[in-house]
Amino acid sequence: MSGFLRSASRVWLTGATSGIGEALARRLIHDGHSLVVTGRRQSALDELVTLAPDRVDSARADTTNLSELDQVGSTLADAASLDLAILNAGTCEYLDVSQFDSELIRRNIETNVMGTVLSVERALPHLRRTRELGRPAAVAIVGSSAWWFPFGRAEGYGASKAALAYFAQSLRADLAREGIEVFLVSPGFVKTPLTDRNDFPMPFLIEADDAAGRIIAGLQKGHHSIEFPKRFTWTLRLLGNLPQGVIDRMAARMARNTSQES
Ligand SMILES: NC(=O)c1ccc[n+]([C@@H]2O[C@H](COP(=O)([O-])OP(=O)(O)OC[C@H]3O[C@@H](n4cnc5c(N)ncnc54)[C@H](OP(=O)(O)O)[C@@H]3O)[C@@H](O)[C@H]2O)c1
Repeated sequence: MSGFLRSASRVWLTGATSGIGEALARRLIHDGHSLVVTGRRQSALDELVTLAPDRVDSARADTTNLSELDQVGSTLADAASLDLAILNAGTCEYLDVSQFDSELIRRNIETNVMGTVLSVERALPHLRRTRELGRPAAVAIVGSSAWWFPFGRAEGYGASKAALAYFAQSLRADLAREGIEVFLVSPGFVKTPLTDRNDFPMPFLIEADDAAGRIIAGLQKGHHSIEFPKRFTWTLRLLGNLPQGVIDRMAARMARNTSQES
């Protein structure tokens, strides 16, 4: 288990244009790392490049689009090496069960699961090259703690993040013999454009810059599971370990209350 980001590193960061990803990008640039930043909004990527034009490359892509991701692959190939891929791009759309919409579920899964899977596919050859040079290499996948409890309306988002957690842990097992590490980041509520849309209470909400600091600290310490804030994640773990019947009653009551508020 290695610590990452302790010395100047080359990082590919997806979802760099807002929220947690933007806060991560700003901190990493400030700390002297070199970045390839990805998102769909070119103007936001350009803004990050201006912070350190000699160390930040923009590689615009929709992470669900194969040919756009291939372009990122060539930017990564141009780089000397890749130490760490932080795959953070994600979306969250909530379901209104009275108008069940499978396309909404598909969009959550396409972006959060397949976007990450396709990004891993693009990152791996570069991480393997780094390992051949005898240097540590890692993937960090930004999941969520939301799926640890069956929250109403989160059928799509929760399912996508549950799948992502399994994917990350299985990938960790398979890549262990190559020495490529896999980190799984599971945040609670973080104030970002994604959660600004939420119309329900968000206990223990933290700022994006705080979240970025916790992710970097976890990567530096080599913690493969980075979960925060602890007051939220411990509470969810506790609730998730209750008997299933109790969980079901609590979840149904919470779902009812949320739909009455909206
Ligand atoms: N905020 C929270 O409370 C919270 C909690 C747990 C987990 N998370 C996870 O943290 C990650 C970041 O979320 P956030 O809260 O910072 O949200 P955000 O502010 O909405 O940022 C999402 C980022 O993902 C990018 N993105 C979305 N779809 C994309 C696509 N198809 N291709 C490329 N980039 C795409 C967006 O860039 P463009 O729009 O420029 O494409 C943006 O940079 C997500 O994976 C989210 O699920 C967030």
